[in-house]
Order: sequence, then structure tokens, then C-alpha cells
Amino acid sequence: MSNQVILFDTTLRDGEQALSASLTVKEKLQIAQALERLGVDVMEVGFPISSPGDFESVQTIARHIKNSRVCALSRALKADIDAAGEALRVADQFRIHTFISTSDIHVQSKLRKDFDSVVEMSVAAVKHARGYTDDVEFSCEDAGRTPIDNLCRMVEAVIKAGARTVNIPDTVGYTVPSEFGGIIQTLFERVPNIHEAVISVHCHDDLGMSVANSIAAVQAGARQIECTINGIGERAGNCSLEEVAMIMKTRGELLGVHTNINHQEIYRTSQLVRNLCNMPVQPNKAIVGANAFSHSSGIHQDGVLKNKNTYEIITPESIGLPKNQLNLTSRSGRHVIKHRMAEMGYTEQDYDLDTLYNSFLALADRKGQVFDYDLEALVFFSQIHEEPEQYKLKYLSVQSGSNVMSTASVRMEVGGDVVNEAAVGNGPVDSVYQCINRVTGYDIRIDKYELQSKGEGKDALGQVDIVAEYKGRKFHGMGLATDIVESSAQALIHVINCIYRAEQVAEKKEEIQKKIRMETV
Ligand code: KIV
Ligand code: ZN
Repeated sequence: MSNQVILFDTTLRDGEQALSASLTVKEKLQIAQALERLGVDVMEVGFPISSPGDFESVQTIARHIKNSRVCALSRALKADIDAAGEALRVADQFRIHTFISTSDIHVQSKLRKDFDSVVEMSVAAVKHARGYTDDVEFSCEDAGRTPIDNLCRMVEAVIKAGARTVNIPDTVGYTVPSEFGGIIQTLFERVPNIHEAVISVHCHDDLGMSVANSIAAVQAGARQIECTINGIGERAGNCSLEEVAMIMKTRGELLGVHTNINHQEIYRTSQLVRNLCNMPVQPNKAIVGANAFSHSSGIHQDGVLKNKNTYEIITPESIGLPKNQLNLTSRSGRHVIKHRMAEMGYTEQDYDLDTLYNSFLALADRKGQVFDYDLEALVFFSQIHEEPEQYKLKYLSVQSGSNVMSTASVRMEVGGDVVNEAAVGNGPVDSVYQCINRVTGYDIRIDKYELQSKGEGKDALGQVDIVAEYKGRKFHGMGLATDIVESSAQALIHVINCIYRAEQVAEKKEEIQKKIRMETV
């Protein structure tokens, strides 16, 4: 048996389905490219039958990703598999993942079928998927609660039908490590053709055991772990990629396995997913939490000063966590910024030096010193505002205080024209938002408003994330500035630009469909 554990990332499928606002195609592609740099073996990027948007994003990612295998999900139904096969066709290497429930409760209450027909459907689904590719994965949904005889029977049948990977999910995060490892061990003991497939696991975190269960499964012979960045996913989430990757790096000798992961990319990927998905990472989260490498107790600090190994089993550098440097000011030249970015692992393809340098100078004028995390935030924000924008903020001014209404005036560029507005509101953000709504004509309902500091100290950049609803669809917008009213305004304008683009795309699609209808009459 190989001692490489395949890491199958499902951030863009299981992770994405748990977000309050779905990601745009461009955001999904940004995450897929980060996953490719991270070195995931397989990335599951969507469920093409579920919506035209999902189909389009799977196809776009399939076209761009070269070094990881791109995978899409389908129920054990012909139409689902056809949609997945069609969306993936453009990829260099792809996998079709098909699944059905196998536990009694799912088979009886959800599918309302008997187990024999479920086996029949699974075999037919795998054979149909093999018509598109040799790389077919089959999942027994809710395997953790499936009677072991049924599970053995299903695994044997789908391998015989041509599944090259068989996934054993603990869909509801119910099992404990010794029990889950035992299920995998039993499959190895009882399924005669088990060595013709890779056995995979997919654990949810409802009882906080997804990582421990996945590692127990590897010890019992599983060679693929399905996981997500920062552990995002349905309910309590999925097994966290960075945790299993660092366990296998740190305890590789004990476990006798390794992965293909480029550990230096872990921190960057985690931050990107956190920002684009608007899913905060708990400060005490293993590996990527803000406190993961900080020592608070005096005894610990004393120990670390004497010898790091007293309390540090992994180093921040090993996951690519940048060290903060204090020496960037408005006197730092372009070459210094370029050099610092290279030290942090960014290549020139990752950012536009002119744009970054101009934003750096503007920030340095306001803050004095600019830190590594500021540069990273500027790069990230320049990427999300890369597309031509219909609405741009040119200027804003607000007056507010205790016991008075706030008044704001805003100047914006709308498709090249300059428009001014003023409004009174219930606070500085409210008055600015009223101005923006008047200028753009969009009436937007804000569901969630979050403000956090990016960096340290009172002059840190303020990042605002909002989730807004417009005509039944949710949109996520972000803003970043030293002034938190300005970052709030940017976040709303970001949302409005996303809505504007979505409307343009919908109009274009409608036009094309109309044309096709006319031509066929
Ligand atoms: O949790 C689960 O069982 C799943 C399957 C579709 C693999 O996400
Ligand atoms: Zn899942």
C-alpha cells in the first residue's frame, strides 16, 4: 500500500454550500488557483446539476487548473452525471464523484427505497460515469451509520462496477475514532476486491472529531482524506485540510504516511478562503488561528525564550506565516516593495506592482509604517476590485456626534459621470449608505455587517464585510481602509457592483436565449 495520502479538497463544494452568500465564478477560480499552489491532489469544485452558475464555475475551473485533478459531484442519477461530465470535459485531468445514501435511516426515510434498489442504482451510476472517465469516485452517504454488512456489500459492488475511489463519509459526524477506524479495518478484512480501489474518508465535525476520525481511518488503511480549508462546511464543518496536512508532516514518522501538500502555502490559502468566504477563523483554531503560535503564560514565554521546542511543536514559518517587519514607510521605493513581496512568497503574476505601490504610498501617508499584513490586504483588495466597476467612490464626508443626527455627502462616479448626494442618517454608516443607495438607485437590505481590524494597533486597517440581499439573492461585499466609514462605503459599493454585473450577465443570457428562440421558430 502506498504511503502517500491523497488530499481531496472540497472547500468549493461542501464548504461553499454552507456559506451565507455564494461565491462568484471569479472568486471560486481564485480559490481553486490557491488550492493548486497548495498542492491538493484533487479539488471538488461544485455540483453542476444544481444550478447554471455552478455548472459555469466548474467548467471555468476545469479549464484553468493544470496541476490538480478537478472533480464535480453528482447524485447517482444519469442527468447529474451527464451534467458533471459535460462541465468537466475541458479539464486536463478530471474525476466524477457520484453518491447515494446507504444508512437505514436515509434509505428508508429520505430515499424511500429498499437497499437492493440502492445498490442497483449505484452500480448503474458508476458504470454510466465510467463512460466519461476512468477516474470515478463513489460515496456511501452516511456510511458512519450504515450497517456494516450493507456497507461491505455496497463497496464490493461499486468497485466491481468500476469505481476507482470509494469514499466512506461520516456525514453527520457521529462516530468516534476507534469506531470509525474499525469500520475501515473491517472493509479491508471483508471486501474481497478492496485493493482495486483507494479507500477515502469524508468526516464532518458535529462532535469535533472529524480530524481524529480521518487520522484513525488512515491508520486503518484509508489513503484519501476529504477536507476543506479552515474546516468550513455543512453545520459544524468538515475535516480541516491544514490540520490533517500538518499532522502528517509533524507525526509522519509515527503514522508512516505523507502528503503532497506545499505547507508554505497553508497560511495564505487559509486567509484567502477566510476573506472570500466571509467565514471567520476562531482565534484558537489549530494551525491557522490568530493565537496558534502565541504564548501567553509567563512560564511558557520563559520556556520558549530559553528553547523554542519547550512549547512549540511546529513553527509559524512552516505554514508560510509572514514575520512582521517594521521598516516600510512612504520613503520605501518600488523595488523594496517588490523584494518584500517576493520574500513573502508572491510572484509578479500574483499582483500588479503599479497598483500595489500606489495603494502602499496612500496607506503609508496615513499610517506612517506599513506592515506585511497591510501589503497582503492591499494585494487581496486590489484583486477583488480588478474588474471594471460601474460605481466608484470619489469622496465622502461625514459629520456625526452624540445626540445629533449624522449627515453625509458622497461623490461617486457612475459609468463615467460624476454624481453628488447628501443624506441624514442614524449614524455615520447609515447616512453614507443612504447617499450610496440614492446615487445608485439600488434598495439593498443589509443582513450582516462585520467590522474587524486587519493588523495591529489603533491605526490598523479596518475591514468591513457585509452580506446583502437583493431580489432574493445574497451578495458579499468587502471594504478596506484606515477610516472605517470609508471601508463601510467601499463594502456596499462592492456589493452594488456585484449586483450590477450579475444583472448584466442575466440580461445577456436572456438576449442570447431570445435570439435562439427566434432562430428556431
Ligand atoms: O457528507 C457527505 O456525506 C457528503 C457526500 C456527498 C460525500 O458530502
Ligand atoms: Zn459532506
